[in-house]
Amino acid sequence: MLLAIEGLELSFGEGEDAARILTGISLAVDRGELVGLVGESGSGKSTTVRAALRLYGDEATIGGSVVIDGTEMVGADSGTQRRVRAESVALVQQDPRAALNPVRRIGDSLAERLVRVHGWKRARADERILELLTEVGLTQPGRRMRQYPHELSGGMLQRVVIASALSTDPKLLLADEATSALDVTTQAEIIAIFQRQMRERGLGMLFITHDLHLAGAICDRIHVLKQGEIVETLTAPGLFDGAQHPYTRALIAAAPSLEPKERA
Ligand SMILES: Nc1ncnc2c1ncn2[C@@H]1O[C@H](COP(=O)(O)OP(=O)(O)O)[C@@H](O)[C@H]1O
Ligand SMILES: [Mg+2]
Repeated sequence: MLLAIEGLELSFGEGEDAARILTGISLAVDRGELVGLVGESGSGKSTTVRAALRLYGDEATIGGSVVIDGTEMVGADSGTQRRVRAESVALVQQDPRAALNPVRRIGDSLAERLVRVHGWKRARADERILELLTEVGLTQPGRRMRQYPHELSGGMLQRVVIASALSTDPKLLLADEATSALDVTTQAEIIAIFQRQMRERGLGMLFITHDLHLAGAICDRIHVLKQGEIVETLTAPGLFDGAQHPYTRALIAAAPSLEPKERA
């Protein structure tokens, strides 16, 4: 199992003022699996991945178990947490601009990661970056490497961020609303890239979205999150047929955001 979350609990603050955000979250992602985590805004989707990666400090109290590629993250020392984050897993978030340094050329930002994580020489890192940018369908990749983030569109930048995520050869991808800010066409292109990378590399992926219809179109199973708790898990085939929970049904009834033909 690439990701095994068991009874994950998280609260912010302490004592009487503590705000409990996650309650007993359990889910798993295996190699080659695309697992959805869906819920309305504020339901705790981002908190779940950030907690799993141990990105919170003292402000949060965490409980339960998160095993990523065989390593327990809850209770791990910070060096172990860092190693898992650098080597086993990659997080792609909604806003690619936030993930890239605005005053550095794209090639420099991406190569730096390879130099730092893998200890590669710069020339080798540059070659690999060029390959990856080509793989994710970025046009004129050589020229893009010399450009700054503000010179590229949101869709192009999300390709850059995905190339960067893949550069350290992660086994697990966590996509947190990674396509939510994109127009429908670009969204479909980025999802096709994710699917191809999963196939070719045998990656596992946790796909987080507020859009149940989008998740239904691509995921092997979907966990539905409401106020920090998984209230229902939908399993293929016929993902939506067995949906019982009124909250899930409300999400299904909510206005679809993808063209009907792509959602069949
Ligand atoms: N650092 C924080 N301190 C206090 N509350 C937080 C913090 N981060 C998130 N929350 C709260 O946790 C809840 C879940 O947020 P989030 O995981 O971002 O939801 P989602 O990603 O599903 O939209 C929200 O009520 C939010 O206000
Ligand atoms: Mg979020």
